[in-house]
Amino acid sequence: MINIALPKGRLGDSVYKSLEAIGYECPEMNEDNRKLIFENEEKGVKYILVKPSDVAVYVEHGAADIGIVGYDVIKENEPDVFELLDLDIGKCSMAVAAPKGFEDTGRGPLRVATKYPHIAKEYYMSINRQIEIITLHGSIELAPIVGLSDVIVDIVETGATLRENGLEVCSYIVKSSARVIANKSSYHFKRDSIEKILSGLGEKAL
Ligand code: PRP
Repeated sequence: MINIALPKGRLGDSVYKSLEAIGYECPEMNEDNRKLIFENEEKGVKYILVKPSDVAVYVEHGAADIGIVGYDVIKENEPDVFELLDLDIGKCSMAVAAPKGFEDTGRGPLRVATKYPHIAKEYYMSINRQIEIITLHGSIELAPIVGLSDVIVDIVETGATLRENGLEVCSYIVKSSARVIANKSSYHFKRDSIEKILSGLGEKAL
């Protein structure tokens, strides 16, 4: 049995469709329900639906053998897992953004609101700029508008959230896309089954 952690939401739905197409279906997944665990014993697969930022936690601790997670989450949390495949979907960028026309005067620490404190600290350290981190868990774009921060470090996908809130990108930090990760000992003991899934997903990703 392979346990797969899928992120709840659009990315997880799309990866499940690919898994279904390569023979790892679990019809109950397509029903309108609030279940979090789905199993198809005959196909030897169990899906668990988790919050996207928690996927790597389940995989690192072995509660899931493999999982689908954004590179942004991997870079932020640096989980002790194997990163096996770039699915080339769920593409977005990590960027610094601020209200239109904002200029950093360089005086005093820059106030940075983010869900990604580790990435933000590493970025500003690399450009030698002193910052104060304000950690939030969502709606990051609000922070500079209401004066909680000067800038944000966040994910930009279509750019709509920034645009609709009068913000713009100041600089790009790193690109992200969905990756397949594996628990290290699962990869050792269930390598053949995992490789089979990877090659199916890899072909889909091309
Ligand atoms: C993410 C991210 C941005 C938005 C970017 O938020 O934090 O707010 O998507 O997407 P866009 O460039 O296509 O507008 P999410 O939807 O995960 O919600 P959150 O605010 O709760 O983090």
